[in-house]
Amino acid sequence: MDCLRDWPEPIVRVQSLSESGAEIIPARYVKPPAERPSVGPPGVTEACIPVVDLALLEDGADASSCDAATVKAIADACRGAGFFQAVNHGVSPGLLRRAREVWRGFFHLPMEEKQRYANLPNTYEGYGSRLGVDKGAILDWGDYYFLHFLPLCLINHQKWPALPPTLRLMNEYRETTDEYGEELTKLCRRILRALSMGLGLEADRLPEAFDEEGVCMRVNFYPKCPQPDLTLGLSAHSDPGGITILLVDDHVAGLQVRKDNSWITVRPLPDAFIVNVGDQIQVLSNATYKSVEHRVTVNAASERLSMAFFYNPRSDIPIGPIPELVSPARPALYQPMTYDQYRLFIRQRGPRGKKLVG
Ligand code: OGA
Ligand code: NI
Repeated sequence: MDCLRDWPEPIVRVQSLSESGAEIIPARYVKPPAERPSVGPPGVTEACIPVVDLALLEDGADASSCDAATVKAIADACRGAGFFQAVNHGVSPGLLRRAREVWRGFFHLPMEEKQRYANLPNTYEGYGSRLGVDKGAILDWGDYYFLHFLPLCLINHQKWPALPPTLRLMNEYRETTDEYGEELTKLCRRILRALSMGLGLEADRLPEAFDEEGVCMRVNFYPKCPQPDLTLGLSAHSDPGGITILLVDDHVAGLQVRKDNSWITVRPLPDAFIVNVGDQIQVLSNATYKSVEHRVTVNAASERLSMAFFYNPRSDIPIGPIPELVSPARPALYQPMTYDQYRLFIRQRGPRGKKLVG
């Protein structure tokens, strides 16, 4: 873990580059031609990812009350596209609005204020501008803020931003962020149970395999970019964890999901969540559910904020295919590995497509 003690070179905030008004982006942000956003067949980019109505998704202990059609819709989406948009998810639009507002507010604070929360690669907690510690790597056009919710022993409120009281209510960030964390954790629990049932298992089977849940969030901020055709806000990657619930700006697109050899731009529905399964669910389901590659484009006209909420298995137990899903006809496709071991790869190397669980 030694290499994770500090960044290999001085950190440059993408927001500062953007605000400098330069019309040319530094070479470090220019992607090789094959990775640039204009690459790929045109015309397929308007396709949709499935929309799933979660109104009837049970939220209590009684699995029998779970709506079979909702379970099937979630399972079908996670077997195919790997992504869906969730509507009627039960999290109030007011909370979504507040969460976006406080986090947008954070990124619009003066730089000295934000720098107080600058992060290091050992935990990634706090204000950051790169993923991975490879010296000389080509970087993405985005800054972010990363924090933990669970397990409780990992919560470090010193690493959560609080505005100075002269600007706003002191604890608004923490309270809104806490409430957002609680509501989204509940939603992830409901979805995880549905994913279990979608595999023909008891609702509690995936939660049992997760053991003690790990919950964290990365708020991504993609500043305006003068040359959006040359770079990406976030390079192609699959999410390493369990379930990701993404809240994006309603009015600015940017997320692209891989479908075969092309990229589909997701058109966000107002106040919907974009849900996808990560590599750990692909492994546990023995590849029934797919953790699909995605990336983020940026644009010259608008900044974009997104909140990626990650729901992960306990990080120090081996995660492999659930035994009930393994048979001579369908042998285990993965060797068990702890999530701690697994995510070291992305922490060291940064987003690198889908290398680990092909
Ligand atoms: C992520 C992610 C997408 C986005 O943070 O893992 O894929 O639209 N974000 O910011
Ligand atoms: Ni992602």
